Amino acid sequence: MTLPATELTSTLPTCDFTVFGGTGDLALRKLLPALYQREREGQLPADTRIIGVSRSSIDDAGYRDLVHDALDEHVPHDDLDAAVVARLVARVSHVALDIEEPDGWHLLHGLLKDRLGDQDAVRVFYLAVSPTLFGPICERLDQIGVVDGRARVVMEKPVGHDLASAREVNEAVGRVFDEPQIFRIDHYLGKESVQNLLVTRFANTFLEPLWNSHWVDHVQITVSETLGVGDRGGYYDTAGALRDMVQNHLLQLLCLVAMEPPTYVGRETVRDEKLKVLQALKPMTPTDVDRDTVRGRYVAGLVDGKPVPSYVDDVGHPGSGTETYVALRTEVQNWRWAGVPFYLRTGKRMDRRLSEIVVVFKEPPHAMFPHSEGGTPANRLHIQVQPDEGMRLHMTAKEPGPGGIRLRPVSLDLSYATAFSQRSPDAYERLLMDVIRGNPTLFMRRDEVEAAWTWVEPILRRWASAPDRPKRYPAGTSGPTAAATLLERDGRTWQESDQ
Ligand code: BG6
Repeated sequence: MTLPATELTSTLPTCDFTVFGGTGDLALRKLLPALYQREREGQLPADTRIIGVSRSSIDDAGYRDLVHDALDEHVPHDDLDAAVVARLVARVSHVALDIEEPDGWHLLHGLLKDRLGDQDAVRVFYLAVSPTLFGPICERLDQIGVVDGRARVVMEKPVGHDLASAREVNEAVGRVFDEPQIFRIDHYLGKESVQNLLVTRFANTFLEPLWNSHWVDHVQITVSETLGVGDRGGYYDTAGALRDMVQNHLLQLLCLVAMEPPTYVGRETVRDEKLKVLQALKPMTPTDVDRDTVRGRYVAGLVDGKPVPSYVDDVGHPGSGTETYVALRTEVQNWRWAGVPFYLRTGKRMDRRLSEIVVVFKEPPHAMFPHSEGGTPANRLHIQVQPDEGMRLHMTAKEPGPGGIRLRPVSLDLSYATAFSQRSPDAYERLLMDVIRGNPTLFMRRDEVEAAWTWVEPILRRWASAPDRPKRYPAGTSGPTAAATLLERDGRTWQESDQ
């Protein structure tokens, strides 16, 4: 799955990169800084154009100022180079467009038309807007004649709000673009550490024989954030943590941990294997939902020593029923994983920012050392996705010294920052280059997205009808106590990364 280093810097075709939502948070915070980094590496061909589309009436100069400020704010200072900023900003223009009005579409067509029919030029349409606009925008793009075999569309998550709306979006976009032209982004798949998961599993032999229900007791996947909902409250309040994080990022991580090795790493092979995992997830009945899921919502508290308001104050919606935290237990019902629980948890305004996968192995079958009657601790492999990418294997060793054998936990540590000196590119850098190159391996296929919604939907339905509301947890803590109980019930505990 991981692309050779050269692919990140390989030459790209000429591209017109159009971003719908060009003045929005995602474009300014993530997409333009990512394009800047690729410009800095000299990867963007001289004739690449970047077109921001939004309803704002700013002109090209105004948009360039906006982009300039965004780069200043979101590119690490050591990476900022005035000449590169000037080169990138010179590629940028803006089209003011109201989806219902023909004028903006004419302008866009006018900008793109000189390269229509050029077999060497790629046109990317990045939809960083609400999913309800995905279908209508694609339809208009088709009407103005800018969609051909060299065009690609990129959809930001969430694709839909539930299974039915995801299908509708997929149908609408699919009427204009063929599946190989559709790139559904889950930016977790572009993270170096997430791609590395596959390499760790399948480019090394020692783990794979242990990677199954014979040796693995359970798996924990944690994505915890200290951030709240920021200025995305309007979207978030209609989504919640299950739709925003579990349906996509956490399930994708689970897929990469649980999938079978594909015969080779190709455009479809990895996605085929991930799909099989999603289809093997144990379906939840209403009773399972009540027993195996916990939803929470932060109230006012302290994060990094600073007071922060409650979620309902953040979004200005006192009656909100939206969850900002989810913990759940599931199983992958196949030969490899039968009976092994997978515990997932994610939350906003937590005590720490940490994304981590912990594979907890079974305890040694027999306590043969004196003073180890209580059993020797199980081995644990912590795969840290962020912030400090790396891996830690918790083992048991003999404490040095005479006078018998005393056991002590120790860890084998691998820090990627120490092992590799080069900058780790942001997920969007790789993903945007893959779109332009036309490589869909790290994007979600339609069937994957729909399978993920199929599994999530019974939880959404049960939560919508259940009388209880999300459990409260103070901001800056590790979530509701019910999440700890979920594991305690099985005789287990959440493994915190410093344990
Ligand atoms: C996004 C979610 O997909 O991922 C956000 O919509 C979340 O709510 C973000 O904050 C987390 O991404 P990262 O890369 O910071 O872990």
